Amino acid sequence: MARTPIVGGNWKMFLDLAGAVQLATDVRHRLGSVRGVEVVVFPPFPFLKSVADRLAESAIGVGGQDLSSETSGAFTGAVAGPMLRSVGCSHVLVGHSERRSVFGDSDEMVARKLAAALAAGLKPVLCIGENLQERQKGETFSVVTRQLRSALAPYAGKTDALADLVLAYEPVWAIGTGLTATPEQAQEVHAHIRQEIADLLGKSFAAALRIQYGGSVKASSAPGLMQQPDIDGMLVGGASLKAEEFAQIVKFRQAN
Ligand code: 13P
Repeated sequence: MARTPIVGGNWKMFLDLAGAVQLATDVRHRLGSVRGVEVVVFPPFPFLKSVADRLAESAIGVGGQDLSSETSGAFTGAVAGPMLRSVGCSHVLVGHSERRSVFGDSDEMVARKLAAALAAGLKPVLCIGENLQERQKGETFSVVTRQLRSALAPYAGKTDALADLVLAYEPVWAIGTGLTATPEQAQEVHAHIRQEIADLLGKSFAAALRIQYGGSVKASSAPGLMQQPDIDGMLVGGASLKAEEFAQIVKFRQAN
C-alpha cells in the first residue's frame, strides 16, 4: 500500500519571533507547493499564530509541540488542544521523548494527551522510542511495545478515531547527538512497530499507518532512511532550523 511520506520539522525551544517568521517564509519559498510529501512544522507556542499565518494556503501544515490533557481550566502554563486549533494548528506532537524524560510525562499522561488531541480534531504525531540504557539492555522492542499499547490499546476496534494518527519512532540516543540510527537499525524497529500495531489494531490499519523516523536526520541520511520499506517519513529537529537543509530532506527522492 502506498503511504504518502510525511516530514516534520520540530523547532523545539529555538528561535525568536522574527527568526521563526523568517524560517517559515524561507520554508514556504522552498516547499510551499511541494507535492507527494506531507510537510508540517512545529514551532514554539508563542510563534504558532504568526507561523500559521505565514504558511496559510500553502501545502505546509503547522503543529504544536505538546498539548494539555485537559480542554480548559485553571492549569497555569498549559496549552489546550482547542487553543492550538484556534491559532491555525492542524497537527500536534504527543509524547515527544523530551516531554517524557525532561517533563515527566508518563505513559498514562501521554495516553490522555493523545485522547485530548483527537477530541480537539488535531492530527497527532505519537512519539515513541527507547533510551541508550534500554537499547544496551536489549529492551528496545519491549519499551516501544509498552509505549504503543498504553496509548493505543483503548482504540482496539475503534480505529476510525485514529484515521489521522502518525507515529514517530525516535530512539532517544539518536536525538541531538549526531548519532543517526542506521537505516537497518531503524527499519528493524519500524517493522516491529507495524507488527505490534497489526496485532493491536488490525492488519489493514497497520498497513496504512505512517511511521516516521527521528533522531539526527540530515539531508545526507534522509534518502537511505526513506528507502526502507517501513519508514514513511522523518521527524527532524536541528536540521529543520535550516530551510535549505530541511527542503533537501523533504525532497529526499531528488537526492538519489
Ligand atoms: P534532532 O534531529 O535534532 O536529533 O531531533 C530529533 C527530534 O527530537 C525531532 O522531534
